[in-house]
Parts: sequence; structure tokens; C-alpha cells
Amino acid sequence: MNNNEINLKDKVIEGYELAEDKEILGIFGNPIKHTLSPVIHDNLSDMLGLNERYIPFQIEERLGDYVKAAYESQILGLNITVPYKEKVIPYLVDIDEDAEKIGAVNTLVRADGGYKGYNTDMEGLYRSVTEAGFEIKDNNIIMLGAGGAARAVAYMCVKYGAKKVYIVNRTLEKAEKLADDMNMIKKDNANEKTFIPIAASDYIRIPNDRYLFIQSTSIGLNADDGLPLVCDENFYDMADAAVDLIYNPEKTKFLEVMSKKKIPYINGLKMLLYQGIIAFEYWNNVKISQDMSEKIYSELKKYYSNK
Ligand code: ATR
Repeated sequence: MNNNEINLKDKVIEGYELAEDKEILGIFGNPIKHTLSPVIHDNLSDMLGLNERYIPFQIEERLGDYVKAAYESQILGLNITVPYKEKVIPYLVDIDEDAEKIGAVNTLVRADGGYKGYNTDMEGLYRSVTEAGFEIKDNNIIMLGAGGAARAVAYMCVKYGAKKVYIVNRTLEKAEKLADDMNMIKKDNANEKTFIPIAASDYIRIPNDRYLFIQSTSIGLNADDGLPLVCDENFYDMADAAVDLIYNPEKTKFLEVMSKKKIPYINGLKMLLYQGIIAFEYWNNVKISQDMSEKIYSELKKYYSNK
């Protein structure tokens, strides 16, 4: 047995198989066992009468070789998740302009000679935010976090015209780097910067105003995680609406605070839904109706009651 052999079949997680009579969609990540994406794509495929199956692949190493193998095996489309959204970029033949600016790709679409990368997380988040009735355009935003997920949030704020965006992070340097990158993309002049980095310990510097809060740190993912990034609950009185990118658990401590203060909020489940729907639209060149999206959303929500 050749150790160097690349065989996608070996990377399929338990409970799934590469059916030869179906078109294959899939996701690369590590860990990947708990992904909800098959619920989205297999249901969409069934609703549209397409003969497709969505397979999670656990990729621990040699990402580039597996991307190539997927292309050669005619895999119609791939999602890319943690920890590969940035790392996959060198293995693409082309990248969408927004994805390039975000610096992360979560969707691969077949092109000549390889895959083209897109970022549907950002558009998925935007759809979920606007559907909830929350505004980005000309609005003031407080972002909590400056990691990988925060880059898509920040770029959404650029693309859809936020007025002022405070990036609050435990590590100030990371907030500074993200703010610099985004101010550069926005081509703000030095006196009128849209993005302002703030150390979490320095939250008091943010002017008293009304803000849309968007939480993108990983705090809350674990059931025993403590308080949100800024512990002072009075800080959240400045919120007129709130978004947490986390969908599991359904209500993080951050959302519990918002809920207690009667501030309208959403978690990340609709972002998950719409990033998947947009990816599916790319792969199949179809448009998914609102009615279908709602049906898929009810399927996703079952996950909370089945847990
Ligand atoms: P992701 O891809 O999910 O965004 P990431 O790039 O590792 O993951 O970013 C994690 C984010 O959560 C960062 O903003 C991180 O803060 P630092 O930049 O200071 O590391 C934040 N984060 C994670 N755990 C945290 C904790 N216990 N306290 C404060 N911030 C935390």
C-alpha cells in the first residue's frame, strides 16, 4: 500500500458513502462530524429532483492534493470549513473578488482546470441580518472579535455601507490589523476612518450611541463558556439589535444578555442556511425560492429539538 496515495473514499466520514450513481457535493474540514450542511444540500437536491449527495470529508493534511483529487473525481462543488478557509486559496484556479478581499473561501465551484473560490458566509450573513430587519447601511456597528469569522463580518460592513464600526477584541493587535485592512479596502482618508480597533478591556472608549452588535468570537461555543467578551452588562444597553454567528448552542450567554434586555437578536442558524443556499445556487445554476429556504430552515431547526 502506497502511503502517498490520495483516495477521497478514505476521508468520507462514518454514515456516508460515495454513491457512484450520484453527483457528489461535499465539505472539507477538520473536525467535520457535526456539520449540518448535508441537511441543507440533500434536502435541496431532493426538492429539485437532482441526483446529488453531499458528503463530509475529514481532511487532516495534504489539502491541495485532496482539492485536486476532488476536481479530478468530478466533484461538482465543495464547501470548505475550519481550519481551511484561508489555507485553500493557493489551490484554486480563480477567486471571486469579495472572497479575495475577505481572505477566506468557503465554496468551491468548478471552473476550467480547477475550482474557483467564493465566500458565501458573508452574503449569507447579510441575508440573515436584513431578513431580521437589521440595518447595515449607514448604521453604527460594534463587532466583538477579530478572528477569521470576523473578517467576513467586517467586509460585509464595507460592502453594505456601515457608518462606523468598532472592532472590539481581546488582542488589540488583531483588531488593529483587521481595521487597517478594511479601512484600506474602503479607501477612507486618514481622518475619517470607518473601522476603529478597541481592546476589550478598553470598551468604555466607545461613544455612547445606538449600535448593531455582531458577535463573532468563539466564546459561547462550549456550554461551560463564561460571560461574553465584555463582561459589563451595561455595555449592551447600547445595542438596538444583536447577531451572534454561533448557532450551537441556540442561545449563547451573549444572546441571553440581549434577550434579558429585550433587544431583538438572531443567532447564526440563518447565516448557515443562506451560505448553504447561495453555494447550492452556484453549483447548480438555480435560484432557490423563499418558500424552499423556509422549508430547509425548519429542517435545520429540528436539530435543536433532536439534540
Ligand atoms: P474563527 O475562525 O472562528 O473566527 P479565530 O480566527 O481563532 O476563529 O478567532 C477567534 C476569535 O475569538 C478571536 O477574536 C479571539 O480573540 P483573540 O484574537 O484575542 O484570540 C476570540 N476569542 C476566543 N476565545 C476567547 C476568549 N476566551 N476570550 C476572549 N476572546 C476570545
